[in-house]
Amino acid sequence: MTPVFPVSALGDGETTVCRIGTVEVLVSRVDGRYYATSARCPHAGQSLAGGRLQGCELRCPLHAAVFDVRDGRCLRGPSDEDLQRYRVVIDQGRVCVDVDATR
Ligand code: FES
Repeated sequence: MTPVFPVSALGDGETTVCRIGTVEVLVSRVDGRYYATSARCPHAGQSLAGGRLQGCELRCPLHAAVFDVRDGRCLRGPSDEDLQRYRVVIDQGRVCVDVDATR
């Protein structure tokens, strides 16, 4: 479990990308809850850092695939794969992500 930033660093409706070892992780905050998924779109590898988050739906900036950041599900193509989801825990005011434990 790796602490990535303080809970106050990310507002509702915001995302950020951080690196844990060799893994790029997209952390999103929706309705006060934090979610972590892979940060690369499975369609063509675009970074999701510039993706637009509306509610729980994140749109890939390249070809507009849409993913649910809560569980990584692909809701709309052209991607036909989901995002990898990672376990998130809040510990002592910090968002912590476990890239070895998927959920
Ligand atoms: S790279 Fe994301 S939809 Fe094509």
